[in-house]
Amino acid sequence: MSSVRQIPFDRELSSSPEQTQALGRELASHLLPGDLVALEGELGSGKTCLIQGLCAALGVTSRVNSPSFVLINEYSGKDSRDDELLIRHFDLYRLNGPEELDDIGAREFFHDPTGICLVEWADRVPGLLPPAHWYVEMSHMDDPAIRQVLCRRIETTASLAGTRGSNL
Ligand SMILES: Nc1ncnc2c1ncn2[C@@H]1O[C@H](COP(=O)(O)OP(=O)(O)O)[C@@H](O)[C@H]1O
Ligand SMILES: [Mg+2]
Repeated sequence: MSSVRQIPFDRELSSSPEQTQALGRELASHLLPGDLVALEGELGSGKTCLIQGLCAALGVTSRVNSPSFVLINEYSGKDSRDDELLIRHFDLYRLNGPEELDDIGAREFFHDPTGICLVEWADRVPGLLPPAHWYVEMSHMDDPAIRQVLCRRIETTASLAGTRGSNL
């Protein structure tokens, strides 16, 4: 059973890290336990920055940084009923192959109905993502302070091909 989920924003231009964090907070207000956010975009495009805002909105008080060498960081947040919410933050930039995800149990984490997964460089493991997830694409613009941020709700694997890589 699936219900249509409202999208926080479609395409925004952010002119500062603070503005990118604010977009993360907006997305956070639409997340439910079990959701996964796939973030794509080159190094320095602001994926971690957006995640910092998102996590702050979910009540995370610990430091939020890219888990580049350990692949995964876990934070404790709160859901809308103020219950404990486990947030798993992945950075797959240095992933050598999908089997490395199995070593940390990530396949199960991606389908955990109780927590939230935030996956930087999700394009490294397209086949492992749950069919329904959030997709955030970040891009540098000519002005070094500006980032374009696209946000999509993917509902089926069939819609992936049409959404990813399109120049909207
Ligand atoms: N509009 C902006 N949005 C996000 N980050 C920005 C912006 N302008 C400059 N920056 C800088 O770009 C860098 C983004 O880094 P980070 O979030 O770690 O990127 P990624 O996780 O995609 O590699 C930070 O140093 C941040 O200060
Ligand atoms: Mg990062």
